[in-house]
Amino acid sequence: ADVFTYDPGFTSTASCESTITYIDGDKGELLYRGYPIEQLADQSHFLEVCYLLLYGELPDAKQMVDFETRVTRHTMVHEQMHNFFRGFRRDAHPMATMVGVVGAMSAFYHDSTDIGDAWQREVASIRLIAKLPTIAAMAFKYSVGQPFVYPKNSLSYAGNFLNMCFSVPAEEYVVNPVLEKAMDRIMMLHADHEQNASTSTVRLAGSSGANPFACIAAGIACLWGPAHGGANQACLEMLKEIGTVDRIPEYVAKAKDKNSGFRLMGFGHRVYKNFDPRAKVMKESADEVLELLGVHDNPLLQVAKELERIALEDEYFISKKLYPNVDFYSGIILEAMGFPTSMFTPIFALSRTVGWIAQWKEMISDPQMKIGRPRQLYIGAPRRDYPELGTR
Ligand code: CMC
Repeated sequence: ADVFTYDPGFTSTASCESTITYIDGDKGELLYRGYPIEQLADQSHFLEVCYLLLYGELPDAKQMVDFETRVTRHTMVHEQMHNFFRGFRRDAHPMATMVGVVGAMSAFYHDSTDIGDAWQREVASIRLIAKLPTIAAMAFKYSVGQPFVYPKNSLSYAGNFLNMCFSVPAEEYVVNPVLEKAMDRIMMLHADHEQNASTSTVRLAGSSGANPFACIAAGIACLWGPAHGGANQACLEMLKEIGTVDRIPEYVAKAKDKNSGFRLMGFGHRVYKNFDPRAKVMKESADEVLELLGVHDNPLLQVAKELERIALEDEYFISKKLYPNVDFYSGIILEAMGFPTSMFTPIFALSRTVGWIAQWKEMISDPQMKIGRPRQLYIGAPRRDYPELGTR
């Protein structure tokens, strides 16, 4: 019989070779194409990071302008998409809407997408990066009953997204530069994270030669879960449920109790066993945004700060190397910006799209590429004969 390595959850299986993102979980290090995330978060901007992830090097000034022009050319979605949105219930979760709408893009761009053709792959990639913010903002506007806002190409990628979410025809909306920068940072910090669950999903779906828009829809579906991208929403809801600082010990005790089934959302990571470098940068951003908005005595923030302090001093969390992850702080920023919790994971999804695409492109062009096809250890019934209905 065949002998297989059994590795539930793929904790020790490398599924591919990659040149895109490097993580050293013990050191708490994250590099995109070799560049430390802290330097990028400080000095770069999201579209430049997109270029870096997609093409492997930082752009020169002309390459940057060309790339921006290519992206902004595709920011609008087909008008027919408006009807598609209207088919959803108003109270649908925006992630559900996004899985559907991004999947539907494969119907809009099916005949024109030949993944064997490098130019076609390029066009599909640019379309996805350009349209995801528009789609996420439309999902938001639809859920609150406001008119869709068309993209404005004179704004930055992050600024345009904020404008599509928060402007209304009735009054002038000016994007605040501090919030724009914070949004851009959230996007950079989420742009890629090597072979996490949703990226592996995109690669697996793509390994059969499927349409790239459908593959990204599969990634969005995977990201939605609370153990992955859905943690940002779950974390903020948990902070709200805790409500006041005096209730924290009760929740910490519950998290330590295996039988409770409860985990502290926003804590722990499969790879980072020291700290999550994204969380460090995100914490700085959170401080900046809250300062700007004059939020000092927000009870949520007090609960978050105290929870972080208690968990970092607690023997259980220390011994299991559980630290606040990126989702712990991003939710606090997004809440302060005025997003409902249901929009947190869609923002993660639109930011991660470039990473999914870079990984998908790398896989398609890899000469060693094969369809992903894990095996199993069968532990079910041995061969047996089919009994007649009356004899069972
Ligand atoms: N609260 C309490 N205990 C925890 C937590 C937590 N948040 N996370 C892990 N543990 C415990 C877990 O019970 C286990 O204990 P034991 O060894 O006694 O059985 C041990 O720590 C190891 O946990 P694990 O589930 O085996 O580790 P994993 O690598 O499979 O899971 C994780 C990683 C991120 C899914 C998990 O830490 C978790 O569920 N965290 C909360 C959800 C969350 O914040 N997810 C966002 C991750 S970062 C962004 C992203 O990936 O999208």
